[in-house]
Amino acid sequence: MSASSASPSSMSASSTLASSTAAPDWVEVCRVDDIPVLGARVLEREGGDNIALFRTASDKVFALRDRCPHKGGPLSQGIVAGETVTCPLHSWNLSLENGEARAPDVGCVATYPVRVEDGVVWLSLGLTSAEAHTSSGVDRGRSSSDSLASAESDLVIRIDNLEGPEVLALLREHLGSMEHTAPAESRHALDLAGLRDPAITFWSVWDGPALAGFGALKHMTESHAEIKSMRTATSHLRRGVASKMLRHLIQEATARGYSRLSLETGSMEFFEAARRLYATFGFAPCPPFGNYRPDPNSVFMTLDIAGSASDDSFDPKPLRGLT
Ligand code: FES
Repeated sequence: MSASSASPSSMSASSTLASSTAAPDWVEVCRVDDIPVLGARVLEREGGDNIALFRTASDKVFALRDRCPHKGGPLSQGIVAGETVTCPLHSWNLSLENGEARAPDVGCVATYPVRVEDGVVWLSLGLTSAEAHTSSGVDRGRSSSDSLASAESDLVIRIDNLEGPEVLALLREHLGSMEHTAPAESRHALDLAGLRDPAITFWSVWDGPALAGFGALKHMTESHAEIKSMRTATSHLRRGVASKMLRHLIQEATARGYSRLSLETGSMEFFEAARRLYATFGFAPCPPFGNYRPDPNSVFMTLDIAGSASDDSFDPKPLRGLT
């Protein structure tokens, strides 16, 4: 949701507490006002999935695992309508009350007990019934897509020195795939020398020993960075690799103090999926930036990180009380 809109179900905080089957271990996480109205805030957890806190127009607060049961989409970035959050990746509709997917889709995401007292949000990390089902292996519509979601959560991102044979091979494939898309003067993908520039930080994504993709950040000014070299290995397409990397780059840029993050991509159909992904994360078309010039083969997009940070879409910092 453009950190925008999450409008949880009518399940009240108190009813959540009452329906919890676990002995709640309550943790104070924030104030209701820290969560944007009809928006979400992400709680990061070490050693566990992030949790998305949603706030309704009537100030009810709900907590869901921030991972779509379909293919791991970031629910905190979804669109809320009524009592449903719509996943930004493939538009599954999930109940904010119990995490269940709306028909015809089948699946369930874990929910967590929440209560609100004097404007303070308390969260219990005890299992809800939904999570108890999923963790005990009860079939909640588990399918190959659930396996993919698990695979997405196992992906590891690390800074890369651009020396490994897998990375170099994927970079060659990346540059080769660009050749047919536009004339040379309209292609801005960085080659190996370009990626080794000190202004670039390059990350690779790994699924165990297998390279799943890569991405990079380019320092432009103290306040402005550029996304470069987003690539998913063919073996890992549609497993959430690009979303995970993009989220990582936004968080990294935010942590480094940039206020704006921009990118150039192609205007052709070949790049449509990429443009959709960027739009999902809040990037909007913009004029050419930096040394770019107007080019019918290029689309420029930008994201106001400061604005995003203020509504906490991409807040990389854990809230107090959570580890
Ligand atoms: S609908 Fe959520 S990941 Fe596909």
